[in-house]
Amino acid sequence: MRILLTIAELRAARAELLQRDATATLGLVPTMGALHEGHLSLIRAAKKRCRFVAVSIFVNPLQFGPSEDFSRYPRTFDEDCTLLLQEGVDLVFAPAAEEMVPANATTFIEVGGIGDRLDGRSRPGHFRGVTTIVGKLFHVIAPHAAFFGQKDAAQVAVLRAMVRDLNFDLELVVCPTVRESDGLALSSRNRYLSAEERTQALALFRALRSVASLSAEEKDAKVLQEHLRSCLEIAEGLRVDYAEVVHPRTLEAITTTNGGALVAAAVWVGKTRLIDNILLPLGNTP
Ligand code: PAF
Repeated sequence: MRILLTIAELRAARAELLQRDATATLGLVPTMGALHEGHLSLIRAAKKRCRFVAVSIFVNPLQFGPSEDFSRYPRTFDEDCTLLLQEGVDLVFAPAAEEMVPANATTFIEVGGIGDRLDGRSRPGHFRGVTTIVGKLFHVIAPHAAFFGQKDAAQVAVLRAMVRDLNFDLELVVCPTVRESDGLALSSRNRYLSAEERTQALALFRALRSVASLSAEEKDAKVLQEHLRSCLEIAEGLRVDYAEVVHPRTLEAITTTNGGALVAAAVWVGKTRLIDNILLPLGNTP
């Protein structure tokens, strides 16, 4: 496993790897580190599909708002590298902030419309930060496929639009959300939760499950959205950021769930913001 700190080193290592086998494919798993089983599931999916796997570790300053958790975001580089070595990752790209965001940079990638919905609405500028850095990673690493988790459903929708609009020549692979045995979606931010908050946070998945069961009978997206919101609002210790039933690709409001739907929510548990979602399939039988 090679650890590369600069774009020049990364490009040289990529060329070296792929020149050994002209038909080989490279999979990329972009991360902000603090790796957990969710990230490892993406790496395993990448390994199944691609000959070589690169993982980027970069806590992206552009995607955090001024009062968000950038400075306290967990940084666990040595533990991350131990896990990546065990998983048989080929390249780890861990650039410094100046490498990815030069002081004089004035170029950004912004996905209009979709980028201002769900987390884009709650966290202005967030997706502009994500797309600028992920676009740059796609540009310098030039992977054949890139792997993301369904937990970040809005991010996935925004990145799909970016890949389509900017003609990135890669496949975007979305892998299922990995959950603890009690249903809590894995997230690097779960480590912020106290024991009490960890218990309270379970209400998020319970609310999504409740919408899924109701959706077997009820197809009106507004009714389902109201149900989701009220489940979250009555849960102790939770403050709702958003609770929506939307189109999974455009993130726009829908009237019926017959064509499939994304049921997504973001909540605050104490000082920690958690997101989770479920997909209601086409025909909408959960
Ligand atoms: O999902 C994340 O961890 C980040 O948003 C990503 C895709 C690595 C971009 O910084």
